[in-house]
Amino acid sequence: MTVVVENLTKRFRRGAETVTALDDVTLVLNPGELTVAAGPSGSGKTTLLSIIAGFETADAGAVRFESPLPVGADPLAMTWRDLAFVPQALALLDELTVRENVEMPALLDPSALRGEPAEELLERFEIGHLADRYPSMTSGGEQQRTAVARALRLHPPLLLGDEPTGHQDRGRIDLVLGILRGHAYAGNVVLISSHDEAVISMADRVVTLADGRLVSDKRTGVSR
Ligand SMILES: Nc1ncnc2c1ncn2[C@@H]1O[C@H](COP(=O)(O)OP(=O)(O)OP(=O)(O)O)[C@@H](O)[C@H]1O
Ligand SMILES: [Mg+2]
Repeated sequence: MTVVVENLTKRFRRGAETVTALDDVTLVLNPGELTVAAGPSGSGKTTLLSIIAGFETADAGAVRFESPLPVGADPLAMTWRDLAFVPQALALLDELTVRENVEMPALLDPSALRGEPAEELLERFEIGHLADRYPSMTSGGEQQRTAVARALRLHPPLLLGDEPTGHQDRGRIDLVLGILRGHAYAGNVVLISSHDEAVISMADRVVTLADGRLVSDKRTGVSR
């Protein structure tokens, strides 16, 4: 899949004031590279991810998903199976254990054949020993790794993460980004936001926002 972001503009109204959260952003996201949306607080990163995910609508512009589809298939027929999102607030279900949270996408779609068993994901994210705990009984970093593992459960062609390593120490930033990069290199689109230099230095591509405008788009040449 390729994600085509065309001339996106988004404004928020705050009383008499209008904030332009995104200002004519055009961007093509390709499979096979880990892209980081960088930029200071308030620059529009979350807004960009939310519009690509369909959580927010743009005032102008469009997001298109292009993929090599079987003849006759509807290119607009994206479902939650195709797109996974790691929100900044994680949105784990606290009535379910860590294992059950990660398994959730597969429980919602028993016909899904794609993806890695939850147990393997838990091990890879170094939370295997926490499988039977409830998220509230684990640390912030562990909860965040649970949410990233859940997003990968169905091996989504498009993975979006809003600062998905914000609660990790340096070692775990490398762990999580290594896994997300692996997912990109398997032929998927991965876009995450961050203003952390450690994260930016591990990206294949960095798109930088400032006041809602795309001010730079660089391939970093990080080696595989
Ligand atoms: N629901 C909203 N209502 C009004 N203004 C909003 C809303 N959401 C975002 N904004 C404004 O839009 C701009 C972009 O916000 P956004 O959350 O996309 O920034 P960000 O780059 O994700 O910042 P951070 O790094 O702090 O998460 C900011 O000026 C913000 O105050
Ligand atoms: Mg944000």
